[in-house]
Amino acid sequence: MNRYLAFFVLMLLVAPLMAGQARSGYAYLTPEARELQDDDFGNPGLASVDEGQALFYQPGANGKPCAACHGDQGEKLDPERIARYPVYSERLRKPITLREKIRQCRSDKQGGPALDYASPDAVALESFVRRLALGVPVAVDVSGPMAAHYAAGKQLFHTRWGQVDIACHQCHDYHAGKHFRGQILTQGQTNGMPVYRLATGEIAGTHERISQCLTSLRAEPFAIGSPEYIDFEVYMNARGNGLKIETPAIRY
Ligand code: HEC
Ligand code: HEC
Repeated sequence: MNRYLAFFVLMLLVAPLMAGQARSGYAYLTPEARELQDDDFGNPGLASVDEGQALFYQPGANGKPCAACHGDQGEKLDPERIARYPVYSERLRKPITLREKIRQCRSDKQGGPALDYASPDAVALESFVRRLALGVPVAVDVSGPMAAHYAAGKQLFHTRWGQVDIACHQCHDYHAGKHFRGQILTQGQTNGMPVYRLATGEIAGTHERISQCLTSLRAEPFAIGSPEYIDFEVYMNARGNGLKIETPAIRY
């Protein structure tokens, strides 16, 4: 194929992405896996939501449970606002992820005990809170001070990692839809986070899932909750703006 023709074909392939057409991982699931995700009783990821719900009613050190301020079942939390995370904190001068916001509430509004970013409790609470926004389109605002974090996350997504020396976007932008090690590659979107992984039988949030991909590339993962992963999350959530929240999604 001559070089210009090859370039033309490549442009045709990437054009939908360049036009900003984000596709949920749901689009690549088998009918059986979709059915499992949509099953309000059978979705195995709901175990994490249930755990989060139980924690939502557990009193903190000051005797107050989350529900004391955020209402029964979190009814006073606004789903549209949940869909906007990460948001910028003027006070802390950094982006705050949904899990970090929950950690802050535990420390500042419940008097502790501190919630470790990587703990199963933090993941479960994130699952419960994000489930409240089921079906709401992701809407991250990357204007103003968030622009630099979006750019940093984008750069991380386009960096070649590990001994395998491949960038995230090479798999998740160029090869979405293709088979890879018995799985169908998706765009690597985050609208289903935290997700239940059929491959491992475990729940994974965005940071855990990035660690799993980095490890598979034989790269050293960053720490869960690290500034790098937060930049990744800003970029990746915004990249999926408009996709509906599916927490807890079923994925491979
Ligand atoms: C004593 C009251 C209180 C308790 C207890 C509390 N929060 Fe909050 N929470 C607030 C207030 C007030 C805000 C909004 C102001 C702010 O962002 O600090 C907030 C904000 C939030 C937000 C962000 C909402 C938005 O619209 O951006 C989430 C999510 C949240 N809390 C979850 C939790 C969870 C989960 C717990 C329990 C682990 C909890 N909170 C415990 C008072 C509380
Ligand atoms: C060699 C190909 C490859 C590379 C490079 C790669 N991944 Fe993945 N990734 C996969 C496969 C395979 C899966 C599981 C199927 C799927 O969802 O695409 C996956 C899944 C994901 C998911 C889950 C998507 C969902 O809907 O739950 C995210 C998020 C993700 N990757 C992020 C990343 C990030 C960030 C990087 C770069 C640090 C990266 N990946 C690099 C192959 C790759």
